[in-house]
Amino acid sequence: METAQLIDGKAVAANLRKEIAEQVKTRLEKGLPAPGLAVVLIGEDPASRVYVGSKVKACEEVGFISRSYRMAVETTQGDLLSLIDDLNADPEIHGILVQLPLPKHIEVQSVIERIDPAKDVDGFHPYNLGRLAGKAPTLRPCTPYGCMRLLKAYGIDPMGKNAVIIGASNIVGRPVALELLMERATVTVCHSKTKDLQAELARADIVVAAVGIPKFIKGEWLKPGAVVLDVGINRLDTGKLAGDVDFDTAKERAAAITPVPGGVGPMTIACLLQNTLEACEAMEAA
Ligand code: GUN
Repeated sequence: METAQLIDGKAVAANLRKEIAEQVKTRLEKGLPAPGLAVVLIGEDPASRVYVGSKVKACEEVGFISRSYRMAVETTQGDLLSLIDDLNADPEIHGILVQLPLPKHIEVQSVIERIDPAKDVDGFHPYNLGRLAGKAPTLRPCTPYGCMRLLKAYGIDPMGKNAVIIGASNIVGRPVALELLMERATVTVCHSKTKDLQAELARADIVVAAVGIPKFIKGEWLKPGAVVLDVGINRLDTGKLAGDVDFDTAKERAAAITPVPGGVGPMTIACLLQNTLEACEAMEAA
């Protein structure tokens, strides 16, 4: 078997960012304001700092207004909620993103539910998740949305395929299950209590790996010809990044696979920009 086709998330994301930048330019020519995104980071988690830095830079490159709020780890829940209230009321801001995870003394659900659903560019608010569950999506979680856009860009139609998702988180596993179900895949969500992961994977035409363990999924576990979307971004002791899938063995077995880095990661950021533009346009139409 030939080695797998690389699913080039970096290139697909660059195209999407270019389209967004053109739409911002058109807006400005018409005298409309640039979309505005507020990014909130509490504490010093190194990975979160890198992600937030990338999000702010991506905003600036497409001509968005970006505001970042970097707050001390001791920030109280009350202070965070009142910042969200201010941003909800701010007409320059169309998207609000609070980077996760949050320090333990802050209840994540209360924070998510405080964000105006119309500005919830992460798509984590129960309103937006409910819309996705009901096949009428509004703002969609960025990583799952990025996965779906990658499949589309490569002409891979999930309809009737067995999609196996590894990881049942609120950020990736659950919403990507809803996305794939909306496209009429037969969806299985596996997690740490799943009895026989290898048996599930052996039937999987599409695999979404979101476990957070480097090289956890071995090539031999895949169905030959599977399409593999690797959401994991794990820092190895060597300093290199690795996905949740053992890329070197998986590429010998899969039909198509996303690399790490350069696969799903850039799509997450491009979809955040897309969501911010969509939020801005929806607010104007309302
Ligand atoms: N932490 C890891 N992924 C994400 C994401 O997509 N959004 C936010 N807000 N935090 C994250």
